[in-house]
Parts: sequence; C-alpha cells; structure tokens
Amino acid sequence: MATETDTREIHIPANLLDELDRYIGDLKIDLNSERRKGYLIQILHKAQSLFGFLPEPLQIIISQKLNISHAEISGVISFYNYFTATPKGRYRISVCMGTACFVKGGEKLLEEFEKFLEIKAGEVTPDGKYSIDALRCIGACGLAPVVMINDKIYGNVTVKQVGDIIEDCLLMEAEA
Ligand code: FES
Repeated sequence: MATETDTREIHIPANLLDELDRYIGDLKIDLNSERRKGYLIQILHKAQSLFGFLPEPLQIIISQKLNISHAEISGVISFYNYFTATPKGRYRISVCMGTACFVKGGEKLLEEFEKFLEIKAGEVTPDGKYSIDALRCIGACGLAPVVMINDKIYGNVTVKQVGDIIEDCLLMEAEA
C-alpha cells in the first residue's frame, strides 16, 4: 500500500532549515552573479541529505535563497535520478529501465520487486522501510540489468536474486 503525501502539507523542521541556512551562508554565494547557479546541485544534495527528499515547499525556500526560479530547480530535480521530490523508504530500491537494462530483463525485475514488497514503483512500504523506483540509465550498462539499493549497485541481477537483495537490506540494517 502506498504512503500518499501531499507536499503542500509537509512540515519543514526549523532546526534542519537552520542547518541548511548555515550551509548556504558558509558558501558565501554572490546572489547577483550567474555563478550562483553552479552551487545548486551541491545545495540540493545537502538539502536532500538533511530532509530525506526535496518537497515543493523546500524547493521554493531554496529558490528564494538562491534567487533561482522554482521552475529551474524543479527541472534539475526531475532530471537527476538521485534527487527526489517525494518521500522514499530507508532502502531505496531503484531498478534501471534504460534500454540495455530493459532489454536484459529490467521490467521483469521491477515486477518481482513489486510482487515481493507488495507495492508499486513510486510507492513506499507502510513501515517506511522500502521504496521502489524505475530509473533512467544510470551509466552502468555493462552490468545490465542493474538495481541500486541506496548508493550500492547490483549488476547482472536475476529475478531469483530479488529476495537475496532484500535480505541484504536487512543485513545493512543490522550492521548500522
Ligand atoms: S541502461 Fe541500465 S545502466 Fe544503462
């Protein structure tokens, strides 16, 4: 079952916002210079590591702080697979649907993860532990089909390995 989130109702924790403010302040960005746009990815990266995702109200705050249009910021977020505007699970399962991975069975893998976790791509398990996403090519086509769990890449994945990969998440949790 999906965890539905209306981003307009998202509460932005003040302490995290203060931390983001300090981070941006330390960069000493000249808001009148075109070069301010060169900091955008770095700041979105920091914001996502603080908040877990980049909801619309946060995008608007960043847009005001950097004097960059919200449309431009949301374009960057949707362009890069790494960024997400919706909440994800603690273990983000990303199945590549680029051409090489698709041809080598990416779609079947995605179906198997969906069946295993009883959620669809774009959804989060009710306990917040796992989310599944279909991604564009992540640049590891030689290992197709590819699955990522957070930042860890699994290559040449078969449908039979899906259960083991989920077990791996449990091991990561035990080690954390
Ligand atoms: S198509 Fe999947 S990594 Fe390139």
